[in-house]
Amino acid sequence: MDLLAQLNGLPGELEERLRKVAGDADLEAARVDFLGRKGRLAELMSHLRDLSPAERPAFGQAANAVKQRMTELLDERKALQEQEREAAFLAGFDCSLPGRTLWNGSLHPITLAMEEVCSVFRSMGYEIAGGPEVETDFNCFEALNMPPEHPARDMQDTLYINDKVLLRAHTSCVQVRTMMNRRPPLAIIGPGKVYRRDSDVTHTPMFHQIEGLLVDRHVTMADLRGTLTAFLRAVFGGSTRVRFRPSFFPFTEPSVEVDMSCAQCGGRGHIDGQPCRVCKGSGWLEILGSGMVDPAVFRSVGYDPDEVSGFAFGLGVERIAMLKYGLTDLRMNFENDIRFLHQFPV
Ligand code: PHE
Repeated sequence: MDLLAQLNGLPGELEERLRKVAGDADLEAARVDFLGRKGRLAELMSHLRDLSPAERPAFGQAANAVKQRMTELLDERKALQEQEREAAFLAGFDCSLPGRTLWNGSLHPITLAMEEVCSVFRSMGYEIAGGPEVETDFNCFEALNMPPEHPARDMQDTLYINDKVLLRAHTSCVQVRTMMNRRPPLAIIGPGKVYRRDSDVTHTPMFHQIEGLLVDRHVTMADLRGTLTAFLRAVFGGSTRVRFRPSFFPFTEPSVEVDMSCAQCGGRGHIDGQPCRVCKGSGWLEILGSGMVDPAVFRSVGYDPDEVSGFAFGLGVERIAMLKYGLTDLRMNFENDIRFLHQFPV
């Protein structure tokens, strides 16, 4: 058979072969057999030199056309196989099955605790106040009756930016900022982040506090006691008992430490005969620091301590969140583990 006839017969032969291929590997083998470097077309082309110069151009043209046609045939077959695969997949696919449910985010336990505390105080007429986390030494310590070298600063060792600027070690600076900008009467609550040079199982270098301040005429310790008792009962339940222990803060006089009956064991100190782990068997939990605003603080913000009086308190939000949600490890709050975070309501 002459070369040209053999050449022109190739597409027909390929078609024949393609009718029998099954699968990608088979298809590739067919391509190699017909179009590969040592395939049928290449083999015929190697005989080009046997043709007379006059015959060569026509043969060359025909070879191009054959090559193009075979490429098309292979592409068509490939597309067909893909369609078949898709159809087989869809045949086994039940589009009436329910889809994956979307994930909802949830609020962080610290955020939840912060909002709960703020909303209780808001309902008592307090306004939300704030301040920067990078504070002046004056707002954070000096105006709060803690001059440089005051030993109380040791308890609140923080991270200094320079001699006069630092990361606030408590939210009490919000008291100073508020009083410098406003005249009494005022009642504010200041939630936010604070920093200390502290890092162990029960301390993180950053944590959250909520500051409270009320200033008016004739404010007494009885107001402080009533307000904090009402607050703790609103958050931890009406049967919560509250006790006040004498304490010391440079910016309050007198100062008290406030304890509440343990939310875990109901103040009994034991559960099923075992000492309660949350309150270590005492039945009480230390929950906040507080006191009557020291006259020295009023003087440093330009208030007359003979005219006004007030109380202030500061509480740790992590502590509230842990008691409220039964968390056992403080660090869980900062590990960003979605399995943990997801357990809180939206
Ligand atoms: N700032 C104190 C602390 O961080 C808490 C406090 C606030 C105490 C207000 C009394 C009054 O320990």
